[in-house]
Amino acid sequence: MQWILIFIFSACIFLALSTTWLRKSRKYESVNSVASSYDSWTNDRLLEKLWGEHIHLGFYEKTRLKKDFRKAKIDFVHQLVRWSGLNELPKGSRILDVGCGIGGSARILSNDYGFDVIGISISQEQIKRANELTINNDLCRFEVMNALDLKFPKGSFDGVWSVEAGPHISDKQKFADEMLRVLRPGGFLAIADWNQRDSKKNPLNFFEKLIMNQLLVQWTHPEFSSIEGFKNNLLNSPYCGCSVETSNWTKYTIQSWNESIYEGFRRPLAVLKLGLRSFLKGLREIPTILLMKWSFSSGLMEFGVFKSRG
Ligand SMILES: C[S@@+](CC[C@H](N)C(=O)[O-])C[C@H]1O[C@@H](n2cnc3c(N)ncnc32)[C@H](O)[C@@H]1O
Repeated sequence: MQWILIFIFSACIFLALSTTWLRKSRKYESVNSVASSYDSWTNDRLLEKLWGEHIHLGFYEKTRLKKDFRKAKIDFVHQLVRWSGLNELPKGSRILDVGCGIGGSARILSNDYGFDVIGISISQEQIKRANELTINNDLCRFEVMNALDLKFPKGSFDGVWSVEAGPHISDKQKFADEMLRVLRPGGFLAIADWNQRDSKKNPLNFFEKLIMNQLLVQWTHPEFSSIEGFKNNLLNSPYCGCSVETSNWTKYTIQSWNESIYEGFRRPLAVLKLGLRSFLKGLREIPTILLMKWSFSSGLMEFGVFKSRG
């Protein structure tokens, strides 16, 4: 009897949560919907308290490696720096971080590599928070700006960096063009993004289309490129140097999805201290995180990294 009651109670909670999850979607409507989603995720501090100052996946050299999630995120930044060749640039080189979040990567690029970094985000609240978190560092600045309309002249930067911003951007060609336009000839481009399987080669079935729809509407994504598709966007840009190299880092990053959920159990007070509303908001993300995990494991989604020379 007791177990039946527990089962009914849990089923009710699950039903209530999942209907809220489905009803209150955070669908992409325009660049403003991305800005307001991130303003809200920044103001409630939930992401920051749970996952730290980096809003991206972590890097795990092996599967089921025991590594602190926040350390894995820092490792991710260093891995991408090395893979893209950004570490070949001398201290003082000018780097643009496109879609900088609250500045986690930008601070590493500046503090550890001595680069002169500007981070831009569409979210005003993120830029405010990035500035609060960046103390005593004149070589790391932040501005509100749209990635599709970068207010910098052609060839302004020695390196352009962008991590997990592309899925929020509807015009992928313009995104590629703008990043390459502001990169100087011979400069380094480093991008990491969530991509979907190339549906031209391998179309999505009915079930996958349903899942894909949730991955888009839950986290304000207009569309995911495929790795091949975004590589072509870079190659087709009038500002592209000559070659673009890509790699699929799904196996190095996939552990992050489970870790994102475990963090809530490892740091329960961090979430509970924010209040019941934040706790429920945190719970609301779990179905999407699980769907992401499934999609990356099944090959529906792929974690793509891209590098090129200006
Ligand atoms: C998943 S977060 C990644 C943040 C950061 N790169 C990191 O790794 O911590 C996506 C970021 O892209 C930014 N973004 C999305 N669309 C944008 C746009 N059109 N212009 C500028 N930033 C944008 C968001 O504001 C957010 O900062």
